[in-house]
Amino acid sequence: MTTEAYKEQIEQALATYFRVDEPFPYQGLAESMRYSLLAGGKRIRPMLVLEFCRISGGDVKKALPVACAVEMLHTYSLIHDDLPCMDNDDLRRGKPTNHVVFGETTAVLAGDALQAEAFGTILRSDLPAACRAKCAEILASAVGLDGMCGGQYLDILGEGKLLREEDLNEINSRKTGALLTAACQMGVAAAGGREDQLETAAQYGAAIGMAFQIRDDMLDVLSTKEELGKPIGSDVQENKNTYMVLLGEERCAALVARLTEAAKTVLRQSFTDTEFLISLADSMALRRN
Ligand code: IPE
Ligand code: IPE
Ligand code: MG
Ligand code: MG
Ligand code: MG
Repeated sequence: MTTEAYKEQIEQALATYFRVDEPFPYQGLAESMRYSLLAGGKRIRPMLVLEFCRISGGDVKKALPVACAVEMLHTYSLIHDDLPCMDNDDLRRGKPTNHVVFGETTAVLAGDALQAEAFGTILRSDLPAACRAKCAEILASAVGLDGMCGGQYLDILGEGKLLREEDLNEINSRKTGALLTAACQMGVAAAGGREDQLETAAQYGAAIGMAFQIRDDMLDVLSTKEELGKPIGSDVQENKNTYMVLLGEERCAALVARLTEAAKTVLRQSFTDTEFLISLADSMALRRN
């Protein structure tokens, strides 16, 4: 499967959720959820779900709802991340942010609903009950107190303070690494994969996750608004601790390269058909948006 073919499958599947075919009283909320969910995005997390499912011997079609669920969860995190009380950004995926279009109240509720719908989508899927439960458990652990929310809390708390590299690693492994790791593991879990495959997926996810946030910090400085689809210089404006501030561009680039190599190497522990995940890691390391 190519990246484009996966993306097409994912876009088609995502478009089936939260439709407003007939009018209903709270349709404005559904419209705001669809606005952000279907605004584009690289769809890296759902792609990781599908590919890890495939190489673990699973049925990719049956894992599609799990892939969509991860993207719903991710979209919720972006809507809330952009709010004035968080990063206060007005551009996302090349469009005005959810709260700019629909207002803060609706944006908060759209995020809340997307989170619940993510779990519902997994639990209503056609996968065996044990696989559904495992996927839901992995996701819950990755985005709750000890995962994304904990990381987002530390990210905001750290604004304006001088942090060490290890503090930043702690923040980023939770706010970004946890969900990317979960996406990899959920693919294995959807396939009913082995323990060692879950462990390898976690190691790959953690390495690309860390590289991903370092690259994100680099692009906040080096990219353009047009190319990135997000505001440039947002981190400096919010007094964020970033790898760019702490390490500078060259050391960031070296770290991304090192983590990407580590991710590629670790795959061999449990998988043979790794070509797609190797080239995905490479393209993520050099991404421009
Ligand atoms: C942005 O994620 C938020 C971070 C975790 C850095 P992506 O860069 O994957 O955003 P989309 O989904 O492509 O818009
Ligand atoms: C976002 O990190 C992490 C989550 C959304 C959980 P950033 O705040 O750096 O992401 P962008 O740059 O706004 O996409
Ligand atoms: Mg943020
Ligand atoms: Mg942000
Ligand atoms: Mg960022």
